[in-house]
Amino acid sequence: MSRKPKQRRRPRPSTIALASGVVIVVMFAVYARLSGGDAGPLTYPTYTAEQIAQGEQYYQANCATCHGATGAGNSRAGIPALDGSMHAWHHPDSQIAAMIRQGGFMMPAVGPDWSDEQITAVTAYIKEWWTPQQRAAQARLGGTP
Ligand code: HEC
Repeated sequence: MSRKPKQRRRPRPSTIALASGVVIVVMFAVYARLSGGDAGPLTYPTYTAEQIAQGEQYYQANCATCHGATGAGNSRAGIPALDGSMHAWHHPDSQIAAMIRQGGFMMPAVGPDWSDEQITAVTAYIKEWWTPQQRAAQARLGGTP
């Protein structure tokens, strides 16, 4: 037979205040991370002029037929723009590399045996179309700025 305890222990007001403070700080940190607002200035471009020039050649030879010479895509054919006007800059570098090597739903595997250097060059060229803000946001998702 157990007796009811006379008093239940309640969290003290100071504990409650501390806990809500922690929750608010965590929520703010998550928000700042999602909105990409906290990472400070980024220095870029980190690609060399040579990489970009190489990338231009690869792009114009392998990608421009579909995505357009200026990366504007072809909305009637359902081919997305790679410039900053659509969604391309929401992909980390690894996804762009996977698109090139493995293809997508509609996109063929254009460069199944492209070297890392070739992938990096063409990616560097595409990023020339993005604004500094888009580049910074993409870098936070997992890209070279
Ligand atoms: C035969 C046409 C074709 C060629 C050539 C092509 N693509 Fe694509 N690409 C597409 C289509 C269609 C999509 C839409 C997504 C899908 O198919 O999964 C796409 C999607 C993409 C995406 C994702 C864009 C987004 O907004 O999500 C990237 C990045 C991309 N292509 C890069 C390239 C690069 C770099 C090359 C050249 C190495 C290339 N593509 C060559 C047709 C092509």
